[in-house]
Formats: sequence, C-alpha cells, structure tokens
Amino acid sequence: MYLVFPTHAELARYTSQKLKTLMLSAVPTTVGLATGSTMEPVYANLIQSLQSAGSQDFKQLVSFNLDEYVGLNRQHPQSYRYYMQQHLFDHIGLPDEQTFLPDGSCTDIDEQCAWYSQAIQQRGGLDFQLLGIGTNGHIGFNEPGTPFDSRTHVVELSEQTRIDNGRFFDDFAEVPTHAITLGIADIMEAKEVWLLITGEHKAQTVLNYHRSAVDENMPASVLKRHPNTHILLDQAAASLLPAEVQTHYRTQAA
Ligand code: GLP
Repeated sequence: MYLVFPTHAELARYTSQKLKTLMLSAVPTTVGLATGSTMEPVYANLIQSLQSAGSQDFKQLVSFNLDEYVGLNRQHPQSYRYYMQQHLFDHIGLPDEQTFLPDGSCTDIDEQCAWYSQAIQQRGGLDFQLLGIGTNGHIGFNEPGTPFDSRTHVVELSEQTRIDNGRFFDDFAEVPTHAITLGIADIMEAKEVWLLITGEHKAQTVLNYHRSAVDENMPASVLKRHPNTHILLDQAAASLLPAEVQTHYRTQAA
C-alpha cells in the first residue's frame, strides 16, 4: 500500500513528527538520514517543531547518513555533510560525535566503507531508515545492478543520476563521478523504513517500482521484501498508480 498525501508539505509535516519522536527517544536510537530536495521540507518542519518544544539534548540519538560524494569535503556546499549541517544539525545543535556521514575526502575509502557498516552494526543496527529515490530507482546511491547483499561501498554514478543531481552544481563537469553509499543489505537491516517520493517527475519511477519484481535493476524493489517498509507519496508522485493501491492520508486520519 502507498500512503498518499495531498501535498509534499503535508507529507513533510507527517514525517517530521515521526523523526521528532525518534530523536527525543529515552532509549538509544539510531536513525538513518537522507538528503535531497524531497527531505528539505521534512527537516524544516522538524527544526520548527523541535524549537517550539523547547531545548533538547538528543542524548540517546545517533544518526548515520546514507551517502556522500567522493571528492567533496564537508565545507563544499554540495557535499551531503554540508547539506545536513545547513538543513538540520546546525539548527538543533546536534554535535558531530552523534552524526555520521561517509567522508568523501578521506584517504582510505575502502577502510572507511568497512568501518561505516560495522559502526552501524555495533549500535545494534538502524532503528529507522529515511529514504528518497532516484528517478532510476536508486536508493542511497545504490544504482541499478547493485547486488542486494552489498555493504557500504563506492559507486560510479550513472549518467542519469549525474544529470538529475547536476541541477545543484554550477557546471555539469563539477558533478562528482563517484559516491560512497550505504549498501542495500545495510538498508534492509533497518527495523523500519520510510520511503518518501514526491513530485510529478517521480510519477513514472513510482509506477516502475510498483510494476517491478524484486530485481537488482530496480534497487528500491528490494523493499518489497522488507517487513516494515512504508511508502509515502504526494499526489503528484502517485498520479500514475492504480487507485486501488492508494490509501489517502486524509481519509485514513478521518
Ligand atoms: C540523490 C541521493 C538519494 C536521493 C535522491 C533523490 O541521488 N543519493 O539518496 O534519494 O538523490 O533526491 P531528490 O529528493 O532531490 O529527488
């Protein structure tokens, strides 16, 4: 089933409440976070909601982000570390020791990849994973063809992904060719997964996902095997889906 919201804004508000609950948990909580334009209003709502709730210390929270570009350091405005600082961490005072992203400028990438998956496992795995999707069905930066048993690894970005993400860069030549991503096996071990998809430009991707068998050529399709995955769409992204598989948020809440 797909939970469909009238607008991206309403979907963002709903998701921010889930994240807020996780972040303020009284027990150790490990949350997998994502970047991209889909998540911007989610984090904006989350900041607002946390700030209006008063000062917080998030003592039990640790976050691991999905991915990072190879070659961009944390000061680079298009790095995902920069994004997370700008869109969330700096606003809520979440210390660096509690937030992890792969380091795209490290000297030993293989060692770091191995460490990243292990660090998550040492925390008992992810309690929750927030996901977006690429137009080609990628999750994190796991491009079509990525083995489902993959752990954190370096990927060569597809032409489609570089074109899609090129909108954030001044010049297409500056778009990195490689990235580090959490593997599909790491994502699948999360206890709960929320996949957020918004915008008319993702409607075909949603339909492709819906029609796809569980197949490495449609990376997100692996989630059909996950026992606790929730797919949240706005109406625009859901526009090509058969009506009978859609649950409308307003109807459900009424
Ligand atoms: C990037 C990220 C993904 C993200 C996707 C969609 O490629 N690696 O994790 O889900 O973009 O981004 P957007 O939300 O901007 O469409």
